[in-house]
Amino acid sequence: MPEPMTPVTPETSVTFPPAFLWGAATSAYQIEGAVREGGRTPSIWDTFSHTPGRTAGGDTGDIAVDHFHRYREDVALMAELGLNAYRFSVSWSRVQPTGRGPAVQVGLDFYRRLVDELLAHGIRPAVTLYHWDLPQELEDAGGWPERETAYRFAEYARLVGEALGDRVDQWITLNEPWCSAFLGYGSGVHAPGRTEPAATLRAAHHLNLAHGLGVSALRSVMPARNTVGVSLNSAVVRPVSQDPADLAAVRRIDDLANGIFHGPMLHGAYPETLFAATASVSDWSYVEDGDLGAIGRRLDALGLNYYTPTLVSAARTPVSGPRADGHGASEHSPWPGADDVAFHRMPGERTEMGWTIDPTGLHELIMRYSREAPGVPLYVTENGAAYDDKPDPDGRVHDPERIAYLHGHLSAVRRALTDGADVRGYYLWSLMDNFEWAYGYAKRFGAVHVDYTTLERTPKSSALWYAQAARNGVLPP
Ligand code: NOJ
Repeated sequence: MPEPMTPVTPETSVTFPPAFLWGAATSAYQIEGAVREGGRTPSIWDTFSHTPGRTAGGDTGDIAVDHFHRYREDVALMAELGLNAYRFSVSWSRVQPTGRGPAVQVGLDFYRRLVDELLAHGIRPAVTLYHWDLPQELEDAGGWPERETAYRFAEYARLVGEALGDRVDQWITLNEPWCSAFLGYGSGVHAPGRTEPAATLRAAHHLNLAHGLGVSALRSVMPARNTVGVSLNSAVVRPVSQDPADLAAVRRIDDLANGIFHGPMLHGAYPETLFAATASVSDWSYVEDGDLGAIGRRLDALGLNYYTPTLVSAARTPVSGPRADGHGASEHSPWPGADDVAFHRMPGERTEMGWTIDPTGLHELIMRYSREAPGVPLYVTENGAAYDDKPDPDGRVHDPERIAYLHGHLSAVRRALTDGADVRGYYLWSLMDNFEWAYGYAKRFGAVHVDYTTLERTPKSSALWYAQAARNGVLPP
């Protein structure tokens, strides 16, 4: 017997288009485990997480939630939850250990089996090629600040495209390249943990180049019907006041968080103001002839990851030390050329990450990219919240705060649709609790609870709420 559905009145219902994708997202290092199986070699996150002091509690992704061995169970769970889409990432070190040479069949076979399982359950896969886990050997050769890494990425993209392009029709080159460059090479709170302002900007350019070369490599080996895009964590930057100095701070951070990626990807150029603001850090001489053309290849889709807005002002005195920018504590700023900008905590209710809850930011972000990328379908490729979820004595996990968060943000997506934005889908971060990078397992983003002792999966009440939304195309109250 199907479960009775909660009646909704048309006047108050928040209804989505029938073809809307109701997805969940994950990434390889955060869920797979099995880090030494099938010839997989270490990535920068294996090295980083095994370095004392880098992650909370010394947590690593060695086992994570053991998705590598439990993927069938996890896909069955997705199907039970009524999801019609799933975004996951491929571990580069699993399919091309060391980042060079031919693909390893056992690695590719894992992803083939996963995709076949998804398709058998009517769940549309979206593959992210790079979600932060660079093969360590490529970092040893210089990492993202080196141009060669972009060429390596294009080759890897081609290998995966050849293997999965017949069954996966949605492709994402990079996830949040801002984090790879600015947290990996600037503040050092992410792998590889370097704190070099000049290298941060070089990394950003070579990630852009990797994206562009990756788009072309994928298109050269895949059926034309497949779509290729990128997932950006573009910031919604707000000023503390309308003071011209504070508005200038907004523009500075907007260039460093957004324009540095969407400039070359969508408009064929870096912002001139970015060059000016970072002139003391970098001369940008590594931008070679032809790079901007390569980076600016047409996108079939644009993914937006959104969690919280960023509040800034001009710094009345130069800032050093940890900032309230929400990107983890480091003595080193991730923002080259922005020592005159101060970050502030947004007022209002926060999630367990300390991130203020503000669905209006998601609406603003979607509307902005409708204008920046006219004609390009948009997807919310990540949105969600961490809470300190614990099972009740009866084993159930109640997370009303997450339901409220999802309701607010999905309503913002609906408003954006009404306002004319072409949003085709939403991927909740995350399907299940997992390794939250430098925070280890301490922060739970999952709609499904994972007991880290038994690895048992239990859908939280938010998962059941989301399942109902996905089945009906209407947000439950
Ligand atoms: C962005 C990242 O893509 C994902 O890996 C991370 O877990 C979430 N945000 C939450 O911080």
